[in-house]
Amino acid sequence: MSSGKNKILEDTINYLKFYQEHSSYTVYKNEINISDFSSGIFEKERVKVNLKPKEKSKPGEVLAVSQNIIKNDKEIFVKETFANAMPPKEGREEGWMECSNLDSFAEAIKDCPKCRLLAETRKQVVFGTGNPNADVVVVGEAPGADEDVQGKPFVGRAGKLLTEILKAINFSREEVFICNILKCRPPDNRNPMSDEIANCEPYLFKQLEMIKPKLILAVGTFAAQTLLRSKEPLGKMRGKFYTYKGIKMMVTYHPAALLRNPNWKKPTWEDVQLFRKEYDRIVESEK
Ligand code: URA
Ligand code: URA
Repeated sequence: MSSGKNKILEDTINYLKFYQEHSSYTVYKNEINISDFSSGIFEKERVKVNLKPKEKSKPGEVLAVSQNIIKNDKEIFVKETFANAMPPKEGREEGWMECSNLDSFAEAIKDCPKCRLLAETRKQVVFGTGNPNADVVVVGEAPGADEDVQGKPFVGRAGKLLTEILKAINFSREEVFICNILKCRPPDNRNPMSDEIANCEPYLFKQLEMIKPKLILAVGTFAAQTLLRSKEPLGKMRGKFYTYKGIKMMVTYHPAALLRNPNWKKPTWEDVQLFRKEYDRIVESEK
């Protein structure tokens, strides 16, 4: 194994040890799968690590950890097998691909078992709310605590700010559709993991296919990078229009990020003004 890879392994093992020690989840399997694409060839390795399971851990009880590590602009994906080793959680996601309206779609995935950890820790799936024929779909990251309790996206502090931002450009929450990349709350509001995004994004893609909006507003890094299949930082993507499957799309800061960093309010304001202008232009051109 190259020294670069050794360093990554070491970092990962330290990360897992830290995780094991300080998180409320338990790591129970002493194996890591590494997929290395840095040489342009997909190499897979399985590495034993010396991680002792916590005493209270029971196989099948627990959890997955995964990390993307970006090295020298190339991605080395380190992903362990904990989750894969577990039996699937009981649950259904049946026939959702054939659903012909959003209500039946929401019903079909309300017991989604795909991300075992999230399925066990969520209160409910947060499908999305708003107008099923919306011209505008807003895509965020994942439900937080308030959303998990209420079953609706963007109803907490960041959600109030999103509502205000929409109002400032003359959209009501009811006329747009609001949803997230992940439909379940990640524990402690941690970032979505790449395997969770991979499990959940087909639902978002199907929602967009059903709603067929004229414009998409992606708020925050995860929404932007997921829809655009990009690794670019948000600051580079914002303020411009892109297309997602032929639908115009703009990226701007996440309202939660604005709460932490008020310096981003001005650029966000500029972005959404442009967004509104483009919306008006599209509607006008369709008359
Ligand atoms: N942040 C999000 O990205 N989505 C929500 O639904 C709430 C907060
Ligand atoms: N970083 C994020 O994760 N989100 C933002 O909206 C801006 C910076």
